[in-house]
Parts: sequence; C-alpha cells; structure tokens
Amino acid sequence: MRNVNDTLRSLTSFTGPFSEFHPEDVPGNPTELFIEWLYEAIEKRIQEPHAMTLSTVDKHGVPDARTLILKNVTRNKWFFATSCKSQKGKQLELNPRVALTFYWSELGRQVRIRGIASVTNKKLSDKDFLERSVNARAIALIGRQSEELIDQNELDDVFIEKQEIVKRDPLIVAPYWHLYSVFAEDVEFFQGNTHRKNVRVKYERKGEQWASKLLWP
Ligand SMILES: Cc1cc2nc3c(=O)[nH]c(=O)nc-3n(C[C@H](O)[C@H](O)[C@H](O)COP(=O)(O)O)c2cc1C
Repeated sequence: MRNVNDTLRSLTSFTGPFSEFHPEDVPGNPTELFIEWLYEAIEKRIQEPHAMTLSTVDKHGVPDARTLILKNVTRNKWFFATSCKSQKGKQLELNPRVALTFYWSELGRQVRIRGIASVTNKKLSDKDFLERSVNARAIALIGRQSEELIDQNELDDVFIEKQEIVKRDPLIVAPYWHLYSVFAEDVEFFQGNTHRKNVRVKYERKGEQWASKLLWP
C-alpha cells in the first residue's frame, strides 16, 4: 500500500515565482480585474484557463460541485451552459445561489465568485448550442445527462444516431440546453505568494457599486 500521506507531504505548492499583486491598484469593478487575470492565464498558456468549478446545493441543502466551461463574462455576470434536466439544472431551479471557483496554478491565483444564476434566453442558449462541436451537440441532444447509464452499448448506439441527426440538420437545437448567467454578489481574488503572505481582495456588491477590502491570508 502506498504511503499517500508521505507522498502528499513531499509535494510542493506556491513555488512560484508569481507576480506581485498590489491591492491598492485594483479597479472599482471586479469584472475588469477578472478579465485581466483571465487574459494573463490565456497568455501564459495555462491549460483550460476557462475551466471553473460550479458549486450548487441540492434540495436537502447538501453542496455539490463540478467543473464547467466559462462561456462569457460581461459587467458583473459570468456565463455557463448546461442542460436544465441535469442534476445541477434541477438544483439550480430550486436554489439559484451558486459559487464559481477558478484556479490558475502556474499564476498562484484563485478567484471565487458567489451570486445568483438565471437562465438567459432561448436565442442565446440556442446560439451557444450551435457553436458546440458536432460531438458535443450529439451528446447534449441525447438529453440524459446525470441519469443512470445501465448499458454502455445503449450510449454508443444513441450517440451515433444523434451524430447523424446533427449532420443532417445542423440547425437542430436541444430545447433544454440553457445558457445561464451568474449575477455576482461577491468576488474574491487570491494571489499566492511564495512566502505564504498571500494577498486576498474581496469585492462586495452594494447595489450598482462595489466595495473592496483586504482579507487576512
Ligand atoms: C473540463 C470540463 C469541462 C466541462 N464543461 C462542461 C460544461 O460546460 N457543461 C456541462 O454541462 N458539463 C461540463 N462538464 C461535465 C460536468 O463536470 C458534469 O460532469 C456534468 O455537467 C454533470 O453534472 P451534474 O450531474 O452535476 O449535473 C465538464 C467537465 C470537465 C472535466
């Protein structure tokens, strides 16, 4: 049996070097700082810099979380797309309060967003769907995300069937595929530091305005 504890202790974190983060220079709106950090992550060729954790709660108040792809960011809003029939879709219908978490390890940066998720509209949802690859559309068209899969062969057969449908009718959309926006209520930026004097800046929305403060690391 491997000694997992020893192995984990031998691993390093916050090795850096990381950029200096000057909290006194942050913009008034967290969206601006997020976009700045996102582009730095893209320019540094971090793998899947647009992958994030979406946390929800189920009907019993039990937390749930999974990775999703960020689809857009506009002023105070972060976007993702999924099936409203999935587990998370059902959870969102009952409780739209969510958290989004980004971690860009090579930059030592984490961003945490909390807010309210809502379905955008059919036009934007369909647009998102049609921009997906043929395979991604075929999988979404099956429409059984998060249901129990009893027989792998059933998936193989229906996948081929849906691929053919998408190729035959490239404008077909899945009506349950939704683009959601998360209207942010607070956003925290964390810049790791090799000496562990990590810098944390938290923004809180006050109506149309944002207030920011420093947090102890
Ligand atoms: C890198 C990555 C990106 C993903 N992006 C999406 C996405 O954009 N939309 C989606 O519905 N599922 C995406 N998934 C799958 C989800 O993590 C999850 O397995 C699926 O949505 C079912 O979640 P649920 O059972 O909580 O509803 C992604 C998974 C990974 C690992």
